Amino acid sequence: MNSYKEKFEKMRSAGNLAARTLDMLTENVKPGISTDDIDKLGYEFIRDNGGFSAPLFYRGYKKSLCTSLNHVVCHGIPSDRILNEGDIVNIDVTAIIDDHHGDTSRMFCIGKTSVKANNLIDATYEAMMKAIKISKPNIKLGDIGYEIQSHVEEKGFSVVRDFCGHGVSTKFHEPPNILHYGKKGTGIKLSPGMTFTIEPMINIGKYETKLLADGWTAVTKDKSLSAQFEHTIGINENGYEIFTESVKGYHKPPYL
Ligand code: MF3
Ligand code: CO
Ligand code: CO
Repeated sequence: MNSYKEKFEKMRSAGNLAARTLDMLTENVKPGISTDDIDKLGYEFIRDNGGFSAPLFYRGYKKSLCTSLNHVVCHGIPSDRILNEGDIVNIDVTAIIDDHHGDTSRMFCIGKTSVKANNLIDATYEAMMKAIKISKPNIKLGDIGYEIQSHVEEKGFSVVRDFCGHGVSTKFHEPPNILHYGKKGTGIKLSPGMTFTIEPMINIGKYETKLLADGWTAVTKDKSLSAQFEHTIGINENGYEIFTESVKGYHKPPYL
């Protein structure tokens, strides 16, 4: 019996609820909905399914999830902003069940979006999955960063440096930091029982970000579009387990 078996069972429950929340939102995110409407739907779904939204009251944050539109890199705050045809938006959900956190985000396209935006979204998803697929005991964190960075830079995109993935279990954010850039063979070794997020933020333009006056919203300094996907994974004896996989097969746009 693995020593981390119980931890993984709890991570599975929390991760599955976060993923089902995004699945539910997929059917509601369309032109005319506000990001506050999305926040309310997410809050209620998590509550009604036996969980709690981790962002709510986290370090003074006042909403239940993050909605990052267009040139927003991460931590966009839900508001009365209405989603319009052509917008791209990342929705980032973190659910707590039994003290454990499931943290996941996906991109959503509102109506018809530009070819450039679609290519950015595809590259970001592919980069996250490439990094997940090499994850197993004894590889190093730099190997994960390298997978992401090499994939997106080949397409002319850039990797955000100012935010990273993180360990996650009974704490929302715990060591180690998971950088989305790096050199093969560097950094700490992965080992069975580790649980962390991989959540690359990828920009069409330069990687620099700027924090808005609200203290949360991070945007690209050059106002170029930014995309992000996030999964919570665990390392087992043989490789990895994704705790936040969509139940409905909603992996990347187009979903429906
Ligand atoms: N879910 C984000 C992450 O991936 C963190 C959001 S913190 C909040 O780590 F307070 F902005 F919600
Ligand atoms: Co995260
Ligand atoms: Co997140």
